[in-house]
Amino acid sequence: MSEALLDVESVTKTFRAGSWPRRGTPTVAVGGVGFTMAAGESLGIVGESGSGKSTLAGIICGLTRPDSGRVRIAGRDVHAGRRVDPRIWRTVQMVFQDPYTSLNPYMSVEEIVAEPLRLWRDVPAGRARRDAAEILDRVGLGAQVASRRPSSLSGGQRQRASIARALAVSPELMVLDESVSALDVSVQAQILRLLLDLKREEGMAYLLISHDISVIRLVCDRVLVMNKGEVVEECTAEGLTEDAVQHPYTRRLLSAVPELKVG
Ligand SMILES: Nc1ncnc2c1ncn2[C@@H]1O[C@H](COP(=O)(O)OP(=O)(O)OP(=O)(O)O)[C@@H](O)[C@H]1O
Ligand SMILES: [Mg+2]
Repeated sequence: MSEALLDVESVTKTFRAGSWPRRGTPTVAVGGVGFTMAAGESLGIVGESGSGKSTLAGIICGLTRPDSGRVRIAGRDVHAGRRVDPRIWRTVQMVFQDPYTSLNPYMSVEEIVAEPLRLWRDVPAGRARRDAAEILDRVGLGAQVASRRPSSLSGGQRQRASIARALAVSPELMVLDESVSALDVSVQAQILRLLLDLKREEGMAYLLISHDISVIRLVCDRVLVMNKGEVVEECTAEGLTEDAVQHPYTRRLLSAVPELKVG
């Protein structure tokens, strides 16, 4: 059997609000989650607000240390050392729920997208700029936007800039946390088409967190449903229908879903 691209084993994370002596009640954000993903596969994660999706995504990308459990990406244990080895960001890239905080306000959009190419791919500055311009074009941000700072962009443009930054690295795994939900419908279709193209062309794998079932159905092969920090259901994207699913939350989620078409 070939090795999994992503192997998540019994991961847990509890947050404790407040500080001594007034410790609040602990919140179990992720309570023992395990699953694997193959190279080139796309996996959706759905679940109600506060069910632990973003916490799990942060643990997978090495941004949050789990209390216990293990995450392996391409065979490498992400949390093995005292600090996360930044080389894992050649293999995994993440687009956050709120892109504003993740873009350096002092750099132009083109510099922001070119930076990880130089850092993680050792691409020389000139070529990194050209590659950045190309990927920006693919997400629909032309030369006019590329020279601007993040503060002068619209929310949707900023979101596309952060998607371009992550895609530029050509990671084997992209983690997208509600990254397309807020985009204008036509822009969203363009980004989804790009994700599908990159999956086909480069075998890119996606871990896609979304409350939008139509987006999940379009992009994902398989879906995990999270509830209160646990995976309560797993099914194929086609199996994500009201009749087939078991968990009440999943059924609630599925009632009244508009169909999304990407031509
Ligand atoms: N840094 C933190 N400190 C304390 N509690 C936290 C922290 N981060 C997350 N939590 C708590 O952990 C739980 C899971 O949060 P998380 O952000 O992972 O949920 P989510 O599924 O991504 O929700 P949403 O769909 O609203 O984005 C929530 O109860 C949240 O309040
Ligand atoms: Mg979240």
